[in-house]
Amino acid sequence: MDFPLFHLDFMGNRMLVAVIAILHVLINHALAVGFAPLVTLLEFRGYLKNKNNPEEGRTWDEMARKMMFFAFVITTTVGALTGVGIWFAASLANPASLGSLIRVFYFAWFTEWIIFVLEVVFIMIYYLTWKKSNESPKRKRQHIRFGLFLSIFSWLTMAIIVGILAFMMDPGSWIEKKSLITGFLNPIYLPQLIFRTPVAMMMAGTVALMFVAYAMKKQNHWKAGILKYISFWILLWMPLAASGAFLYYWHIPRAMVGNLPVALGTQQFQDWYSSLVTVMIVVVSIGFLVGILGTFAPRRLPKHLLIIPVIASFLFLGTFERLREFIRKPYVIGEYMYANGFLVEEYPLYQQTGILKHSPYFEFSEVTEENKIAAGEAVFTLACTRCHTTHGISSVVRKFERMYGKENPLNEEAMKVFIKSMHNVRYYMPPFPGNDEELGALAAYIAEQQKRPKTFEGPQIKGVDVKEIEY
Ligand code: HEC
Repeated sequence: MDFPLFHLDFMGNRMLVAVIAILHVLINHALAVGFAPLVTLLEFRGYLKNKNNPEEGRTWDEMARKMMFFAFVITTTVGALTGVGIWFAASLANPASLGSLIRVFYFAWFTEWIIFVLEVVFIMIYYLTWKKSNESPKRKRQHIRFGLFLSIFSWLTMAIIVGILAFMMDPGSWIEKKSLITGFLNPIYLPQLIFRTPVAMMMAGTVALMFVAYAMKKQNHWKAGILKYISFWILLWMPLAASGAFLYYWHIPRAMVGNLPVALGTQQFQDWYSSLVTVMIVVVSIGFLVGILGTFAPRRLPKHLLIIPVIASFLFLGTFERLREFIRKPYVIGEYMYANGFLVEEYPLYQQTGILKHSPYFEFSEVTEENKIAAGEAVFTLACTRCHTTHGISSVVRKFERMYGKENPLNEEAMKVFIKSMHNVRYYMPPFPGNDEELGALAAYIAEQQKRPKTFEGPQIKGVDVKEIEY
């Protein structure tokens, strides 16, 4: 392991990345990828209506502008911060995997940045020049064009990132060919993109519907027309979102074939997989119901219940994100790198010579009687802390206590036996990467943590000891 490993001993690193990433994905899909084309379309409708009925046209335009203000404030603050935050958090939590992804997707990384900057430029232009654009039809048309550019660039940033996310699930033929193109066009890429695009549109529709219901007065003559239009938008995207979800859902088991070595894993996966069907049916039904009601009887839409489709569509995406994380384990990059950051093909070396020897940011090279507990802590950091803490969320001590009983002191021998074969019974965990001495040190450390619990501070607090590596 060529990096020091950041560690949060209460929250865990996984949780940190998860919280930032989920917030980002929800904002990005609903308020950027989906909102940009929806708002542009509403503005365009306003422009067309303006010719026959200027008052109606102005109302539509003003509503679209207000929606854009909402999206502008949230995407350029929380959206942008969490977007950058994902990369900071992920590169602290799993630097080795980010290193690999940069090697494979070097060009995509660079392109993503350019497109992201352009997206921000377009959102600035689009929102900040809105009022001026009402001065003449020519300006309005130009403005609508910027809305279109914004929509395209918002979608493109997602289209690139999805290539990388899908690659992590299943690198496909990249494992043999090792080129950017084979990595990018992995088997899950298109299904995932085809799923995310209409889902983003649908999410934007549910948020917009609620926004308009609250932002416009009941008496407003044009409110029903706008609600109807947005409901129709949801209705149009709904079948695509449902088919996209099904396509993606159908492709997932193929990725699982390589990732699942044992029957037990299949069992657990099946449970998850079938609960997904329920979520799909419920969300699609809610979407259809709201879409149909809003399209045919917009005045009947129950304002205070419009939060339900918003929550449902967010849960829909959230469930798929959870599944995506789930099926990737024990790998961080399918069949190539384990979640602990060690390469699959280097495992035989580490299991023979130990991991400490090859990790420059960890003080010890070998386990001795004197350093056993401290070396055990280093082994724990390298092998387990990407997913476990000592006593916080997903505490390793509590996991063992749950297996062997809370009352008893943890038995080092029993733990050694378990850890050595844990990947066979709990397929989501990588095999133990180190040698037998390191395994002994790890078991001693966990037993000691039960006897005398002590918060383990990550290198960001206690610093690191760098040593020379002999090759
Ligand atoms: C890729 C992430 C990951 C890594 C790395 C990992 N684990 Fe786990 N471990 C999990 C998950 C997920 C669970 C299941 C949590 C649950 O069901 O509550 C788990 C469960 C456990 C359990 C309970 C098993 C059971 O049958 O109830 C033990 C014990 C455990 N881990 C020990 C370890 C040790 C020791 C290491 C380091 C050598 C380690 N884990 C590395 C993810 C990981």
